[in-house]
Amino acid sequence: MVAVKKPLRIGFIDRIAIKNKRSMEKIRTVLVTGGCGFIGANFIHLVNETRPDWRIVNLDLLTYAGNLSNLHGIEEGARYRFVKGDIADAALVDGLFEQENIDTVVHFAAESHVDRSIVGPAEFIRTNIFGTFTLLEAARKAWLADSAEAADPRFLHVSTDEVFGSLGDSGFFNETTAYDPRSPYSASKASSDHLASAYFHTYGLPVLITNCSNNYGPYQFPEKLIPLIFNNARTGRSLPVYGDGKNIRDWLYVNDHCQAIIAVIDKGTVGRSYNIGGNNEKTNLEVVSLICDILDEKLGLLPNGAVRRSLITFVADRLGHDRRYAIDSSRLKTEIGWQPSVTFGQGIALTIDWYLTNQQWLDTVIDGSYQQYYERMYG
Ligand code: NAD
Ligand code: DAU
Repeated sequence: MVAVKKPLRIGFIDRIAIKNKRSMEKIRTVLVTGGCGFIGANFIHLVNETRPDWRIVNLDLLTYAGNLSNLHGIEEGARYRFVKGDIADAALVDGLFEQENIDTVVHFAAESHVDRSIVGPAEFIRTNIFGTFTLLEAARKAWLADSAEAADPRFLHVSTDEVFGSLGDSGFFNETTAYDPRSPYSASKASSDHLASAYFHTYGLPVLITNCSNNYGPYQFPEKLIPLIFNNARTGRSLPVYGDGKNIRDWLYVNDHCQAIIAVIDKGTVGRSYNIGGNNEKTNLEVVSLICDILDEKLGLLPNGAVRRSLITFVADRLGHDRRYAIDSSRLKTEIGWQPSVTFGQGIALTIDWYLTNQQWLDTVIDGSYQQYYERMYG
């Protein structure tokens, strides 16, 4: 008698497991926005090294913060294409989804510096809100139309812990913390998070949101605290510390942020947000002092024999300066298995070594427009 094989019954849980496995192994065509900026460039380098099955289309307007030399070694070809353009240009973005069969978006592009948002908020509203809206619309048209072909697409919206506002001496931001943005930058990011979330709830767009704490590492533009202090301390200029220097940030090495983003694309549940943090709370004064000490050790004392801490100068506080950020990333750890790979001490040593060996990169990005910015901000 011939044994009749029973059809294999696949239960709900099995189907989820198969779908998850499929999405983990998926060959992806990823639209990275803002890939010439600090985190975007680190992300592209990481994907290039670790995900040979992904093709990247990098859309970047090359604003003051975007720099093609951040992607030194990444060649145009089967795995990579660069497109100079604006995320708020609907025709361009729609065209890219169609030509490239984009099935994944990792959306970094933004105006990202709080101080600039205080001086001139308009560009933050345009890029961060309208630009995100344009991308969401393009993804909706490409992925949710009746004729859509993209299998298992993902729209990962990269956001910040600043949307949650400012903490007192204790407590952490988690994914259920109410939004309470305080600067034009964080308000524009909060708006874009709400839009992304609305596209999931209203249209079923497969959106994932990540809210990360302060990043540091290679290719960070020297308007942000760590590279600015490095650059000034190296050359013996004064080190501007806002207010009393006791504001606290939760620092994360940029490569760990990028690893988390890849893990969320692979294993995240659509419609959910994930907080990412390093559990490295430091006051600004601690960070600045540490950079001074490391440079004293590596480069020797200043020409006048003084330690670099002597360059610390307390300056007027940032308007609406958030006091403390601290992230609870237990959802990311328990659901996805991510954890940071380096401590702050290790990460800052790697970062300072990188800046010391890439002095030419720093010299290139500190061009005329940076000097004007610096004069306007610090006098
Ligand atoms: P960045 O300022 O270094 O880079 C931004 C990039 O976006 C630049 O390459 C710029 O040219 C590009 N860009 C700006 N406007 C554009 C437009 N209209 N169209 C296309 N490209 C445009 O920023 P970053 O520090 O790398 O931050 C990346 C993302 O991560 C941002 O969304 C930011 O809100 C978020 N984030 C940053 C941090 C951090 O500590 N830096 C922490 C959490 C979240
Ligand atoms: O928390 C995540 C956010 O971290 C990101 O969303 C932003 O894109 C990113 O820029 C960063 O925002 P911050 O405002 O925290 O970073 P910044 O490097 O500008 O400042 C860090 C702290 O250092 C802050 O408390 C202000 C202070 N500061 C900054 C500068 C540039 C100074 O004391 N002196 C300075 O010159």
